Amino acid sequence: MNNQSVDEVLLKRGWGKIKWTGSNMRMLQGLSEEFSADKPFAGLTVGVCLHIEQKTASLFKVLAAGGAEVVATGNLGTTNDDIAAALNESGIKVYGKRDDTRQEQIENVRKVLRHKPDLLLDNGADLVALLVEADEFSGQKVIGGTEETTSGGNRIREEMPDKVSFPVIVINDSPLKSFVENKHAVGQSVLESFLRITNLMVQGKRVVVFGYGWCGKGIAKYFKSFGAQVAVVEKDPIRALEAAVDGFRVAETEAILPWGNVYITATGRQGIIRGEHFAHMPNDSVLANAGHFDYEIDVPALVEQSVSVEEPEEAIERCTLPNGRCLTLLSHGRMFNLGGREPKGNSAESMDMGFSLIALSLECIAKSRYNLVPGAQPVPHEINLEASRRMLEIMMA
Ligand SMILES: NC(=O)c1ccc[n+]([C@@H]2O[C@H](COP(=O)([O-])OP(=O)(O)OC[C@H]3O[C@@H](n4cnc5c(N)ncnc54)[C@H](O)[C@@H]3O)[C@@H](O)[C@H]2O)c1
Repeated sequence: MNNQSVDEVLLKRGWGKIKWTGSNMRMLQGLSEEFSADKPFAGLTVGVCLHIEQKTASLFKVLAAGGAEVVATGNLGTTNDDIAAALNESGIKVYGKRDDTRQEQIENVRKVLRHKPDLLLDNGADLVALLVEADEFSGQKVIGGTEETTSGGNRIREEMPDKVSFPVIVINDSPLKSFVENKHAVGQSVLESFLRITNLMVQGKRVVVFGYGWCGKGIAKYFKSFGAQVAVVEKDPIRALEAAVDGFRVAETEAILPWGNVYITATGRQGIIRGEHFAHMPNDSVLANAGHFDYEIDVPALVEQSVSVEEPEEAIERCTLPNGRCLTLLSHGRMFNLGGREPKGNSAESMDMGFSLIALSLECIAKSRYNLVPGAQPVPHEINLEASRRMLEIMMA
């Protein structure tokens, strides 16, 4: 150990993590064998913008086994340097590092696009947005791509509806991903991250979950199962009713603020907890975001209002308000189940399923199957059926 350089330690740790997690991703293992034989991506470059961590490494390796040249960067703050080092050593080009600024991250996305990828594997639609909006890439063609998240799907549909001339399969629209990953895996990992980062008790906490979509349902369920009292703020009346019949208190933001002491956003929308809300939260409340972008909690407003901000530990900021109350913000308002020390993200098995949907979707685009149309669209039903069969077989073995 003493004779090893920092780089060697980083590489050893990266490879160890990739091997351990990869051994639990059995759907991807199966696809790797099939793609090694079929080479569906022979001669194609896949440009990636996705968290760089041990599970995504297994996905990249499957694409490479299928003949792809893979060029990748992470989302803001979610690159694990040890995994990036191992992937770079294996020939998969990864740009970026964990503490990149937003500007550096955008530059990394640009670098990926400069490789002229044939297929895009996006998470939050940064690749798609830069490709269709930046002059530098005008005229650059791609065959198609996948978008992992609700937020990225919304962005493509709402912000660039007529600009995307290639099919983008939105993985989050798959019913499988909704319940396997967004509900159960996010529920589990958000609870795990709250415990790991704060080391606080969950029992008896008064947790307010913003958004009762798939992620919100999982978060509410897992905190309740650990003994928290849970309330839900949901703008869609049907989902609000669902939360009520699932046994949760349902309320408007302003009414529930003084009741809660943990506030977790999972809407995918901006400005859910805003400047006017902070003063109404009890002393020592915890604020955390599980949505894709770091804009659900207005962090700049919180910092501006605070008379002091201290960071006693990584991913914990203690903000003291003029009224003397102290609010604790986790992971700077970024997705906190990918923050803090030793972030785990969602479970290996759930991501095995989600990443198999990506791999099968990219294969179908590469082979021009199912008459896909330009723009954002759901995962073809045949792929959902295929992935369900494969996961069920593994679970029941
Ligand atoms: N942390 C993770 O690991 C992880 C994993 C998957 C998805 N996500 C992200 O989590 C977010 C939510 O994903 P989802 O699959 O649950 O989406 P979803 O569309 O199923 O649910 C979002 C819910 O938020 C509600 N909502 C929207 N605006 C609201 C508002 N102003 N007030 C209250 N409720 C509001 C919507 O009505 C909807 O019910 C997205 O940003 C997604 O990208 C995070």
